[in-house]
Amino acid sequence: MSKLRIMSVFGTRPEAIKMAPLVKELAGREDIESICCVTAQHREMLDSVLEVFGLKPDWDLDIMTPRQTLSGITSRCLLGMDEAIDSLKPDMILVHGDTSTTFAGALSAFYHQVKVGHVEAGLRTYDKYSPYPEEMNRKLVTAIADLYFCPTENNRENLRREGISEGVFVTGNTVIDALKTTVRKDYVFAAGELNRLPYDSRKIILVTCHRRENYGQPMEDIMSALAHIARTHEDVELVYPVHLSPVVQECARRHLADIPNVRLIPPLAADEMHNLMARCYLVLTDSGGLQEEAPALGKPVLVMRRETERPEAVAAGTVKLAGVKHDSIAGMAHELITDPAAYAAMARAVNPYGDGLACRRIADAILWYFGRGKRPEDFRA
Ligand code: UD1
Ligand code: UDP
Repeated sequence: MSKLRIMSVFGTRPEAIKMAPLVKELAGREDIESICCVTAQHREMLDSVLEVFGLKPDWDLDIMTPRQTLSGITSRCLLGMDEAIDSLKPDMILVHGDTSTTFAGALSAFYHQVKVGHVEAGLRTYDKYSPYPEEMNRKLVTAIADLYFCPTENNRENLRREGISEGVFVTGNTVIDALKTTVRKDYVFAAGELNRLPYDSRKIILVTCHRRENYGQPMEDIMSALAHIARTHEDVELVYPVHLSPVVQECARRHLADIPNVRLIPPLAADEMHNLMARCYLVLTDSGGLQEEAPALGKPVLVMRRETERPEAVAAGTVKLAGVKHDSIAGMAHELITDPAAYAAMARAVNPYGDGLACRRIADAILWYFGRGKRPEDFRA
């Protein structure tokens, strides 16, 4: 029997971090030829992940442009994918999550009548414009996919309510698989200043912010809340690796550049980021991935968004929604900085998002689908 050719398609930093362990797992299976096509919707931030995980793409669409629009990303991906699929002839395409690459990858697979597996399926906020455009991307990919790899039981339930129960697996999130390969107690940072941070004498607050629905007033409020937190608490140090989006760069610099206890630094390599998270005091973020990683590392998270598609860690008590208003972000951060009991109540390691075996389950499920193995057991938190 010939090998199944499984093509993973991704383009942004978080997709790459979450797909890297899966590409490797697939490559280790006898019955599978694992190939990898990157759209490079992100360029530098993608290349950094490829380097950390030692991945070499078989195809690179290289589509990123400065300040790219949603239609620009989608159309360049679609055109590029035509050639990639015609040349590489995959049996199945795997896409991840909810980016424009994810949507275009799935749509292109459908146009070529290639089966689609959706990794990180079933997340929902039920608000079409938040996160934007991700909530709609997820729904569109759900309509196209043949296999659904849900991180949690709650995600499976979301799909069931939409009438989808065939080809659905609860696998855990592959980000936990990735974390298990990057976080080390004795890790030494390549960026020297991270080794010298005052981890013992000050509270290190790790910050990220990038969402499109926060562009404009919400991002102004977020950045001014961060400035207020730094100015009113001498015992904290904000470490903020700033996303390369020019919109974010401009806003962050305008509010935060001249504050002594705020460090604006370039985006970190994934292993640096994961180990910094493991050592910090608190995480303030609007990122999806950080909401999954920080709870596994026992770090409290304040989410600077109006909603979250990841309610599991909120239910477990380690993540709270802080909204996008200045006073609410500043007030909730103040409580966690000054009230040890409030902090201790949130600083517990929980693993609602996985046990590190998601990639194994996904590979097993793909082989089962093609009649070459047993159906995997679901992940249970
Ligand atoms: C994208 C995804 C979002 C995901 C985020 C992860 C879409 C619509 N959005 O948002 O779901 O949460 O990635 O970070 O798919 N840039 C660089 N170099 C890079 C990366 C970005 O210069 O390596 C700059 C470019 O000017 C680019 C801009 O950032 O045009 C925005 O990138 P884009 O992928 O369009 O949006 P993100 O906000 O990164
Ligand atoms: N990340 C990183 N370097 C950084 C910021 C984030 O490696 O400077 C990692 C982070 O640990 C997580 C992923 O990137 O694994 C999240 O990406 P991002 O916040 O850009 O996107 P989202 O998860 O919101 O889609």
